Formats: sequence, C-alpha cells, structure tokens
Amino acid sequence: MAGISRRDLLCSGAALSASSLVARSAWGRTAALLAGNTEAAGAEALAAVAPREQLLFDFGWKFQFGHGSDPARDLGFGNGQGDFAKTGDFEFSKAKFDDSKWRALNLPHDWAVELPFVRDEAQQSHGYKPIGRRYPETSVGWYRREFEIPASDLGRRIAVEFDGAFRDVLVFVNGCFIGRNNNGYAPFRFDLTDFLSYGVKNYIVARVDASFGDGWFYEGAGIYRHVWLTKTDALHLGKWESTVRTAFSSNSATLNLGTVVENQGKHAENARVSWQILDAAGRTVASAAAPAQSIMVDGAASFAATAKLANPALWSVDAPHLYSAIVTVEANGKPCDAERVSFGVRTAAFDADKGFFLNGKSIKIQGTCNHHDHAGVGAALPDRLQLFRLGVLKEMGCNAVRTSHNMPTPEWVEGCDRMGLMMMCETRQMSSSPEGLAQLEAMVKRYRNSPSIILWSIGNEEWQLQSEMAEEGAKIAASMVRRTRELDPTRVVSAAVNGDNEKGVTEAFDIVGFNYGLDRPDKYHKEHPKRPIYGSETASAVSTRGVYSTDRLRNTVSAYDVNNPGWGEQAEEWWKFYATREWEAGGFAWTGFDYRGEPTPYGWPSINSQFGIVDMCGFPKDTFFYYKAWWGKDPVLHLFPHWNFEGKEGEKIPVWVHSNLDEVELFLNGASLGSQKVPHLGHVEWKVKYAAGAIEARGSKDGKIVLTEKRETTGPAVAIRLTADRTEINADGEDVAILKVEALDKEGRPVPTADNFIGFKVSGEGALIGVGNGDPNCQQSDKEPKRSLFNGLAEVIVQSTKRPGEIHIEAVKEGWEGPELTPAKLAITTKKAELRPAVG
Ligand code: GAL
Repeated sequence: MAGISRRDLLCSGAALSASSLVARSAWGRTAALLAGNTEAAGAEALAAVAPREQLLFDFGWKFQFGHGSDPARDLGFGNGQGDFAKTGDFEFSKAKFDDSKWRALNLPHDWAVELPFVRDEAQQSHGYKPIGRRYPETSVGWYRREFEIPASDLGRRIAVEFDGAFRDVLVFVNGCFIGRNNNGYAPFRFDLTDFLSYGVKNYIVARVDASFGDGWFYEGAGIYRHVWLTKTDALHLGKWESTVRTAFSSNSATLNLGTVVENQGKHAENARVSWQILDAAGRTVASAAAPAQSIMVDGAASFAATAKLANPALWSVDAPHLYSAIVTVEANGKPCDAERVSFGVRTAAFDADKGFFLNGKSIKIQGTCNHHDHAGVGAALPDRLQLFRLGVLKEMGCNAVRTSHNMPTPEWVEGCDRMGLMMMCETRQMSSSPEGLAQLEAMVKRYRNSPSIILWSIGNEEWQLQSEMAEEGAKIAASMVRRTRELDPTRVVSAAVNGDNEKGVTEAFDIVGFNYGLDRPDKYHKEHPKRPIYGSETASAVSTRGVYSTDRLRNTVSAYDVNNPGWGEQAEEWWKFYATREWEAGGFAWTGFDYRGEPTPYGWPSINSQFGIVDMCGFPKDTFFYYKAWWGKDPVLHLFPHWNFEGKEGEKIPVWVHSNLDEVELFLNGASLGSQKVPHLGHVEWKVKYAAGAIEARGSKDGKIVLTEKRETTGPAVAIRLTADRTEINADGEDVAILKVEALDKEGRPVPTADNFIGFKVSGEGALIGVGNGDPNCQQSDKEPKRSLFNGLAEVIVQSTKRPGEIHIEAVKEGWEGPELTPAKLAITTKKAELRPAVG
C-alpha cells in the first residue's frame, strides 16, 4: 500500500462494537480485537495520496552492554577528552566497526527484565534489578544497526523517531553525534537528512543509559517502545500538528481542522491543504480545503478549514466509533505529503454538582491506574499485549484508565480509542522547566486527537509543590495548564493531588483530583461547591491471587477484600464512597494490574506490588469480580475461596460471594447454609466449617435462580492444560499468543493450589518471549522456558516469525521432583499477514 503506513491505519480503526472486542471465553477476552478490519477502511483513498513512508525500525538490531564508569568497556566512549569534539569521529557508527559478536535482537527490548534480581534495598522500588549508578555493568546498553537508504531518497526529509526509551539516549549516525534524549517516556525524533549517505549502507547507534531513574516503580531499560524511520517530501506536514476538533450539537458535528505545513525544500512553494473525512467503513463523509499559501524556504504556515458531519456516529464507551481525516498537502497540483488522523465525535463534561457526562449522559468514571509492564516482557510489550491488557480491564467493567505516572505508548492510547476506554493521560514531570514543558507538549500534541482522552494530568503527588513550595507550585502548575490549553483548548487539565487541595498547584486546575483520603472530598466539596471533583487515585488495596490468609513469612496477603495500607482503602470502601455521591465524577483505583517494583506491602523477596486487581499476568484476583459486579452490566456471581483445604477439616473458612444479584444461597455438600440478600455495592459472606466436597452458590434475581457457581475439592494434579487467547495469529514477527497454563486433576478440574514446575518446548514459526505466574515473590527468570505454577496458573507468551505456519508449544513437567504430569500440546496457526512497512 503506497503512501501511508499500516501503523497510521491502525490508528484509524474501524469502529468496533464493545461487545465484539470482549470475547466471551475467559481467556479469549480480546480475541476479536485484531480481527477488526482497520486496514480496509479508506484504502483506496489512501492509495492516491503522497509518498510519505513510515517504516518500522524494530527488526535486526545488535545489542551489547556498555559500562557506566569504565570507558574501556563502553566502546572507549567517555574518556573526558574531546568526546564530542569533532563531528564524524565516532567510529562505532561507521562501516568498519565490528559488531559481529554483539547479540542480535528486535525491538522493543527491555534488558532490565532479563537481569537477575539482587537483594539490595536501594533497588526495591525498581523491583530489585541491578540498574543504577552502582551497577555500571548492567546500566548502559548499546544498540547498533545498519540500514540502506536508496539513492532515490535524495531530497526527502528522513527522520528517526523513538516512541520512548529508557532513559538517557545518545544517537549517532555515520560517525556523527545526532542528539540526546533525557527522559524515560516521551517520544523523540531526529532529522537525519544531512547525515545520510544515499544508495549505500548507513549506520545508526544508540547508547542508552538507564543509570538515572524517573519513577519509584519498575521502569525497564533500553529501547522498550517502537522506533520508526520516516521519509517525507521536503514540503511536508509538521509533526503532530494536524488537529481535528469536534463540536457536537443537535445531531451535527462541526469539525475544526487545522495543520501546519513546513517547507524544507530549496524554493518557496505554493501549498494547499485538503481534508477528506472517512467513516469507519472508509466512505467519504465530508471534505474541506484551505486556500493555498506561499511558504518560504525553511518557513511554515498554518492551515485551517471546517467541515460538517450530519448525524455523526458518536464515540462512546459502548460504541467507540472512530472517523479518520486524511490530511493532504499539495503543491503544483501534486500531493507532497499526507497523513491519517483518527478522531471521534463526542462531548465530555465535568459538572461540580452532577459529576461526569459523556455525550450528555451521566457516567461514573470506573477507572484504574496502571503502570506499563507485564509478566515475561517487562516494559517491552508487543502491541497485541497492550490490547490484551485493556481487554482484561474492560471485562472487569473498567471504563477508564489513568496512565500513571508518565505518558503512555501510542498503542495503549489507540487501544483505548478502539475499545472504548476513557483516559486520564499523565505526563511524567510536574515542571515548567524546558524539559518538563517539552514532555508535556509531546504528550498533548501526540494524543490530542484521541477521543478516549477526557482529561490531561500534569503530574502526581508533588508534595513539595503542594506544601512548602506552594507558591512556586502555583506558578509551575499555571504555566503547564496554560501551555496545555494552548495546544488543546478542548479538554480539562488536572493532576493527582494527595494533599487537601487547598494550597499550591490546585488553583490552576479545571477539575480537582484527590488521591486517597476519603475524609477530604466532602469537606472540599462543601467549601468549593463550584469545583468538579474526582478520585485521581484511590484504593491501593493489596491482595495475592489465590491466597486466603495473610502470611507475613511468605509475603502474601489474603485475597478477601480486607487489606489496604494506611493511606488507602479497600475496593468496597472507596467505591461505595464515590458511587454514592452524585457530585463525584468517579475515580481511578490503584491499580488495575500488579506491576514490578514498589513491592508493597512487603519487601524482599517480593519483587512486585500487590495492589493489582489482576496479577502481573492479567489473571483476576477475587476483587476483580467485586468491580465486575458493580461496574459491569452483566449478572455476576463469584464464589471464593477454592475448596482445597486439606488438613483444615472442621475449621471455619470465610466464604464470600461477589454478586449484583438480589440474593445468594450457599450450599455445602448439598445442604443449604442459608440465603443472604446482597447489599447494594457490597458482598455476602458466610463462615463455613470446612469439609471436603463442594460449596455452591445460587444467585437469584426477582425470585429466580439466575447463576450458580461451585468450588469443588480437587484431587492432585495429574495433567497439564494449555489454552491460548487466540489460536491463530499474524505471521508478522510481532503478533503474540498469550497462553494460560493450568494443572488438572484426574477428573479434568483445574487444581487451584497447584505449584508444579512446568517446562515449555516451543518450535515452528514462533518463539517464547516471556513467562510469568503472577506470584509477587517468584524470582524465576522471565525469559527461560520454564515456570512453576502459582496457585494453579502460569502464563507463556509466544511471538510469531514472519513466515506463516504453526507454532508448537509443549508443556511438560520440569525437573525430577514432584508427581508425573501428562504433558500438554497446543498449536498456534500463524497466518500470512501484510507486514508493516519496515526498514529492510
Ligand atoms: C501513591 C502513588 C503511587 C503508588 C501508590 C501506592 O501515593 O501515587 O505511585 O506509589 O501510592 O499505594
């Protein structure tokens, strides 16, 4: 497909109904996601447009560790003697340099997740990984790649674009130092045009130094997001300058279209810009053009136009309809550059008395905060895994996510646009310094067309700026808010504040975010009745999946909703508070997924947090079903714990049911233990004397049994079972299948307490890229093909090659110890797929 890359098309997305996105089977949640026909929409229209290329620059890199303090082990770099003296002197980015002993790998890549854990309390918040200035051997990485630029590219503008890397990056091309990046999350790009050789090989090197950290959570290390090589005409659209602002009323939308054209050619150009608006099926539904303007050499000009959409399909949580605008710049009657901007038509409004409204309808924000790492892969997630994670959250009834505490990767935002999750999009640094503003600008410009984003956050818990430095805080926040509004006048600006919101940063905000402290919002609302309020961060409830008593020696926390640190709240506590106050717009629970680092409530050997409503793999903890019951629309009946308590016969076991039905009756081995009415926004519980067999819950609505659920005492594990979220994936070298590993007893029932050690043999057209089991205390490797089950579950992620065929996964008992287990096999078909245009 000429002109526009598949990535641009992915951003556009045909509207996918929310129900088609959330597949019915438990482990196939997002199965339907990528089946969405995003590419077809408007393909013909695109074929006609200009020769922009956006090439994936992920494949075929070489990698080697450098050194944080010894130049001899850092390619001789950093002697302190003329390191940056002369342009063209960097031999490691020239043809003669020998990288044949370097490791071959593809991006995205996170080397931190590959490292062993170290027992060093100073490394606790980043998950006990040896990264930082005290670990110079494992804190600097060098990436190198050769690439060819055809002679025909002469005259085009060519740039390398990083979606984000951790953390301090120096980029060199053909012996020349090109530029640096000094933060862990914002995208950065360098124009390489002057440094390239045409019709021959070129060499790019990135030195990535993770010695300094941004956050107090696991951040990864390396080029953990995509890299692109973009080629445009010398007359081209400015980066992230195209905006589509929609105003909707009385069944029609006005589209305010804008862009900037830059002329980096040799002559002044008379440029004209046009917009073609496509619906999700690729039909042209509106068009517009702006009058031509002359643009001087090295000059830029803004273009604007309006278009009307009658009866637009609105973007909403249940029906996330998307449109695209194809923005084309032409000169002398010839298209020179074009891009596709995905947008949605929707209104979002916060009201001080009545909360939040999407498209004029009241809706509570049922949100979760999330960091960006996942089991097995750390911070380097294949795109598909982003969607998988969103699918897990969506299934729980979560309708909004907060990207704490940094700007997200584009695929997460595109996923929210396509799947119908609202977003609070947060920048890393609350600062109006040049670096702070640059990060903020990158975020707002990059994502301001995304309908999922309903509010910008300029930071989190900046206690200095909220108290001692309140005066400076007020000025810093005001500058950031002002800049955000300039770039995007359509959204509200806020931040996550853990104080009383009376001093410092808050005054500048459109809406007021409270982190925790349920004693504060009522008072604040009373005293500031005109200010809209929401819970920017709530809960921090802790639990370990599948564990039913807190054990400080084992670093586990019971999965009943009973544990939270002093500053937090249990799920039931915070949601009852927010759900029952009309003026509260809703809130974001800390966190949707468990994440590495910040291993609350314990320390070593815990290597990840236990705040998640699902674990690191995405396996639900029991509280998931509390949210599903009160956030979702479907009837829910979730009975726990499991019923494998051998040795506890006669002891009283708390039995809980999360349900949104009217009444639940509980049975032990067929005998009723009584019925209970389910309190609104609550749960029901019994104390049951343990006897092997089965507990069963029967849930009824309007006097009729609607759902039943059983937990049976199982026998020991005798066999392994593998299931995949999808058994057919794309043979594109990027797509992944996410496998669930379980142990079954002889009657084929999953054993909820199984901890068998399982090995994986992967052959055919794919490779294992990571394993996990959700155990916050498991220090087994994420990369080796083996993992013990944790409370009956483990996860394996396999990735396709670019050749269609099959991936064969075999799971066998690992090691000598433990009972024999019948192995399991699974085949994943990898089907021929259009490859994204990539650097060869
Ligand atoms: C909050 C903070 C989060 C996380 C959380 C743990 O105060 O914003 O990043 O640390 O506490 O409870």
